[in-house]
Amino acid sequence: MDEKAVYILKRLYEQDFVSGENLARELDVSRMAINKRIKSLQEMGFSITGCRKRGYQLVDKDIIRIWEIENFVSKSNLFEDFLFFDQINSTNSYIKENQEKLKSATVVYAERQTAGRGRLGRSWIDLEKGIKMSIFLSIDFIDIEKLVPLTLFTGLVVNRVLRTFKVNSFIKWSNDILINGKKVCGILTELLGELDGRGNVIIGIGLNVNATNLPEDILEIATTLKKEMGVSFDRTDIIIGILKEFEKEFENFKTRGFLPFRDEYKSYCANLEREIIINGEQKAFCKDIGQNGELICEQNGKELKIHSGEVTVRW
Ligand code: BTN
Repeated sequence: MDEKAVYILKRLYEQDFVSGENLARELDVSRMAINKRIKSLQEMGFSITGCRKRGYQLVDKDIIRIWEIENFVSKSNLFEDFLFFDQINSTNSYIKENQEKLKSATVVYAERQTAGRGRLGRSWIDLEKGIKMSIFLSIDFIDIEKLVPLTLFTGLVVNRVLRTFKVNSFIKWSNDILINGKKVCGILTELLGELDGRGNVIIGIGLNVNATNLPEDILEIATTLKKEMGVSFDRTDIIIGILKEFEKEFENFKTRGFLPFRDEYKSYCANLEREIIINGEQKAFCKDIGQNGELICEQNGKELKIHSGEVTVRW
């Protein structure tokens, strides 16, 4: 979205009615040009109405305040760029397809995904008023072994931020966030290119925030912040919260790995001291989280370490 469109959105967000004349004057463009821009914002899904006497109004203010995120990113020591899309196939796929063009530490956000991807080849259902974003990093420490801890680290960051919003969330290994036993957030980390040395990584975060209607087939297993807490959440504040916390801790993670975060992770981990099912069949008892984030279980009297794959918790 270009600067002028973001400016119009900001004005409409901050003031109840804004006249086309004022917008035209402030942006130094014609009244017709404003008309066109309002139309294209409406086509992008922003609910803007026009009233002859009073001007334009943004009826639904549950939008992403792009200008605030851009402002945060412009001052950030880690993040370099923020790209907002009203609709895209998948933020992870977009990064994959455009990695040569993107600066390292770019955040890609989409209001709607037409082909959102989940872990283990699944799809990620596109709920309205959620957060679907991916962080693109080009880093020099990454090898396949570090991917699990990086994913765990991101889950911990999201969990920490949700807790600042008074949400009683937990982490299901490796990185699902649960509220009352139902999934509210999933993370898909993908490694591109080099396996050792420098590598490009995508960390995709899907968080269900303000939707109230969920498709029947996921009702039992998934939820949203609004459904569990009974109130709407400010999605922009959550996004900035996640990026801030990620930035604050990332250096520590890069130099010291998962270890400094292990105790906190364990204290919110929903799997510990429970029986779990691995890849739909093997049962095991989950005892600990290892130094690199692996799940340490006991099965038939033997210790078993799980580094990846699907784990189901028995409640
Ligand atoms: C999971 O299966 O739990 C991971 C879900 C990850 C979904 C997010 S939404 C933003 C990013 N883009 C995608 O296509 N997937 C991730």
